[in-house]
Amino acid sequence: MERESYVYKTPASKLVQVAAIAAEYRDRPDMLMTVLIRAQKVVPAFSKAVASVIAREMNIPMNQVYSFVTFYAMLSVKPQGKYIVRMCKSAPCHVHGAKEIVEAIEEQLGIRIGETTEDGRFTLEYCPCLGLCEISPAIMINDKAYGNLTPESVKDIIKQYIREDVE
Ligand code: FES
Repeated sequence: MERESYVYKTPASKLVQVAAIAAEYRDRPDMLMTVLIRAQKVVPAFSKAVASVIAREMNIPMNQVYSFVTFYAMLSVKPQGKYIVRMCKSAPCHVHGAKEIVEAIEEQLGIRIGETTEDGRFTLEYCPCLGLCEISPAIMINDKAYGNLTPESVKDIIKQYIREDVE
């Protein structure tokens, strides 16, 4: 059966650009923030591949890069996707299977909740009640609402966005 998951890898040309930036600051861990700010102009998200290139070229531990990237996320500096998929995490949606919906989206997009796909197209996040409890479990993608979801139906919806088949 054809796998419907959505896989995007940071293009090698972008990794080369990030590597060149990071290499300017080899053995300068104090310049990590500068490197991340410059790298962010090249790549829309700090994937594992991007983080490991930075760690390698700067000659610093990977977990140091990760701790800064996490810090970035807390400041909301991390770029958000073109499509923001918001999963309601309030009780009515929860009892109607929100967890299974999130897992289906995570599998399809290849990201975890709170993350953005490497091409910057999708961000997946939790939010409080969307006011759609009567059609729970529900999500919103940007300003569009979708309810009565099943893992299968949400994958069909996400597929439309992957194909840019939405108005
Ligand atoms: S509880 Fe999910 S929309 Fe209200």
